[in-house]
Amino acid sequence: MVGRTLDLVADLSVTELWNTEASVFDDEPHHSLEGDEIRSAWWDVMEAVLPGPPSVVADLGCGTGSMTVLLAQRGCDVIGLDVSPRMLDRARAKAQRYVVPARFLAGDAAAPGLRASSFDVVLTRHVLWALPDPTAVLARWFDLLAPGGRLVLVEGRWHTGAGIDSDDLRQIVERTGVTVEVTPLDDPLLWGHPITDSRYVLTAIT
Ligand SMILES: C[S@@+](CC[C@H](N)C(=O)[O-])C[C@H]1O[C@@H](n2cnc3c(N)ncnc32)[C@H](O)[C@@H]1O
Repeated sequence: MVGRTLDLVADLSVTELWNTEASVFDDEPHHSLEGDEIRSAWWDVMEAVLPGPPSVVADLGCGTGSMTVLLAQRGCDVIGLDVSPRMLDRARAKAQRYVVPARFLAGDAAAPGLRASSFDVVLTRHVLWALPDPTAVLARWFDLLAPGGRLVLVEGRWHTGAGIDSDDLRQIVERTGVTVEVTPLDDPLLWGHPITDSRYVLTAIT
């Protein structure tokens, strides 16, 4: 499990760590999102929180591009950004395989350097919890949003002890004065198995 690996491999840089993870990352069903059932389950989650295609979306910390490609398949204009070149190699290959026009960039999700006020949605899945200074990071992500845009954060507090509680994240995001909705993600179809820990999507609407 990645959270545990992070604890054990403190001497590796974040980039090296995720480069090492890249070859096995998609072994988890909810990472690869391969198969109609799981794709449809994740699309249902996204459809409920996205403003609706054609949305311009930044998927920060996109990993192997599974969410990027899923959204591009459904008509969104998506840029995936990640710090790990090996993850991005896989993301580009996935976009080719699904024949979708997603774009991918190398960069730091904490300070993405993308154009301000130009995205309908900033999406992250399982990224914010591991970034230092989430308050400062959130402020930079809000800057990327066009008027009326939204931040969609898929996070959890996993059985490993890693992650961030939904109440804690709600408090941090609400301090910015936006409207926040939290939806539990406890459908086993999303994960490939039943879960006993806390997983959720938090949506902040500006
Ligand atoms: C748990 S994976 C999630 C991948 C993807 N969001 C998903 O849900 O399948 C975390 C990803 O965030 C990336 N990452 C971690 N820190 C980052 C940073 N500071 N900037 C950009 N990407 C980062 C890692 O390279 C990895 O691909």
